[in-house]
Amino acid sequence: MARHRIVGFAGSFSNPSRTRALVGAIAAAAARHTGGVAEVFDLAGLTGELGATLDARTAPPGVARLIAAISEADLLVIGSPVYKGTYGGLFKHVFDLIEPKALRDKPVALAATGGSERHALVLDHGLRPLLAFFSADIVPTAVYGTESDFTDAVPSSPQIIERIARSATELSGRSAAIAGNGGWRAIA
Ligand SMILES: Cc1cc2nc3c(=O)[nH]c(=O)nc-3n(C[C@H](O)[C@H](O)[C@H](O)COP(=O)(O)O)c2cc1C
Repeated sequence: MARHRIVGFAGSFSNPSRTRALVGAIAAAAARHTGGVAEVFDLAGLTGELGATLDARTAPPGVARLIAAISEADLLVIGSPVYKGTYGGLFKHVFDLIEPKALRDKPVALAATGGSERHALVLDHGLRPLLAFFSADIVPTAVYGTESDFTDAVPSSPQIIERIARSATELSGRSAAIAGNGGWRAIA
């Protein structure tokens, strides 16, 4: 059987990016659990062409590759920095270009980073409804981190390490369902 493809997408264009590091840590842990391969995307280098893409069918190669990777993943890790209380505008634009049925039943883990603990509910008020629109299979544990959870942009606090592990375990558990039921994803 083909190895599971775990795709992470961090809606950040910073370098280094705490969001990318967080998404990458969850994706890497899920890859270890499932024996799959993880690939992580972000918005660095895509901002100009992404904003100019109004139709996925005419997307330039970098944007098309991102949309295809998200749409074709077996397991997804989706994260965004908080901008003005919610996910970023260009992050949302990526999802505006994705087919409404492309993520149906797809297992997804959610993550976000912010400057303040006060905006942790972006996970439940922003990201979770967005992925629910697509009828994705969202795992219960979502991971939020602020600056104090990171050392040199790498997740380091015991709390965030524990939540990364829990989220990745829940996401990996969904891979057994994918492998065990004769490919229900193909029906979507
Ligand atoms: C334009 C902008 C708006 C922001 N708005 C918020 C906000 O409303 N709430 C918050 O907690 N942090 C806010 N932040 C801080 C970022 O969410 C935070 O630094 C985040 O971890 C950056 O992620 P990154 O390292 O992946 O770029 C904002 C940052 C920027 C640049």
